[in-house]
Amino acid sequence: MNRFLLLTLAGSMLLTGCQRSYGREDAAVAKNYPHQREATCPSWLVSHKTGQRYCASPKVDLTYEMISKPQAPAADRTADIDVNDKAQMMALGEEVYGEVCAACHQANGEGVAGTFPPLKGAGSYYGDAQNHAKIIVNGLNGEIVVNGVTYNGAMPPQGGMLNDIEIAAVATYERNSWGNADGDVTPEDVAAIR
Ligand code: HEC
Repeated sequence: MNRFLLLTLAGSMLLTGCQRSYGREDAAVAKNYPHQREATCPSWLVSHKTGQRYCASPKVDLTYEMISKPQAPAADRTADIDVNDKAQMMALGEEVYGEVCAACHQANGEGVAGTFPPLKGAGSYYGDAQNHAKIIVNGLNGEIVVNGVTYNGAMPPQGGMLNDIEIAAVATYERNSWGNADGDVTPEDVAAIR
């Protein structure tokens, strides 16, 4: 092959871009691929019969599939909980505690001295049911003293992530674990301070 032919070949490839012929039915290609007008197409399909160009990126209907298609709501794990059944509330509370709170306050409720206050033996700080619920819903900032140790951290609000039943359950779990015996928090207590 001489140099002239090579140059012509390379030149024509530059001009036409990356093209390949397609091996499907004309009708199917015409239906699924934008036809010719797509000037910015990264890769073209070319009919060797008609010479027509189709963009190789298939059409996607974003409007329905990806924007307005209704999403199934996340399953509500509290739907079947009997809020008057303490065993169920404790089990749910333990689950929520392990998912959300234990990372900071530790699984044993003892926290990390000077950084994350303990929940074990902290009844004199978190106080009555509604005060306890308020701390969990709104989070907490600024200097506090728990069992003689000073903390000056920030607990993120949990009220947006957890519903009233989950908050009542996790607070009840704290009030009745690790030797604590501080009574229960009800979903009504949580609703009252929201
Ligand atoms: C990102 C870490 C973090 C997470 C997650 C977290 N907390 Fe806290 N929590 C803190 C910090 C820090 C403080 C102290 C804030 C301060 O110094 O003012 C605190 C304070 C508290 C207090 C009051 C102080 C005490 O010792 O009683 C309670 C009650 C409490 N948290 C409960 C919870 C519960 C229940 C959860 C889970 C639903 C939770 N926290 C999740 C960091 C966290």
